[in-house]
Amino acid sequence: MIRVLFVCLGNICRSPMAEAIFRDLVKKENLPDKIEVDSGGTGDWHVGSVPHEGTRSMLDQENISYEGLLARQVEENDWDEFDYIIAMDEQNIQNLGNIRKEDDSIVVAKLMDFVENPEVADIPDPYFTGNFDYTYQLVSAGCTHLLNHIKSKHDLN
Ligand code: 4NP
Repeated sequence: MIRVLFVCLGNICRSPMAEAIFRDLVKKENLPDKIEVDSGGTGDWHVGSVPHEGTRSMLDQENISYEGLLARQVEENDWDEFDYIIAMDEQNIQNLGNIRKEDDSIVVAKLMDFVENPEVADIPDPYFTGNFDYTYQLVSAGCTHLLNHIKSKHDLN
């Protein structure tokens, strides 16, 4: 099993959106028995909350399920559970480094690192920008490329 954890700050806007989109792609490619998906926030303000209304409305519009998603905080032992820890921005990467130090066996990267020539390296936080459409465009492109990367890396084609 390949385990992917998406990370943002609050785990109510960007990373649950990524979790829902990625799970949907994994399902469409018949890979749920090979790839497991989760998300978490580096902060604890919204632990136990459903995704933000802006994220829910984008996912509703795209017919992507977010059933059962509740915010949780990233924990030190997530490094023992996941193969890919995928952050939304540089601040998340810094915060992850404070939760647990580097471990060479795990890929810790930003979602946009998987997109060739991305227009931005960091996914702007829609909690502050209010632009959930743009978030969706970036997260969706990132998830497609991440899945292609994982498929080729792990011979899942
Ligand atoms: P997210 O957005 O990291 O994409 O879930 C945020 C949600 C809440 C807060 C910050 C960012 N907050 O400060 O409460």
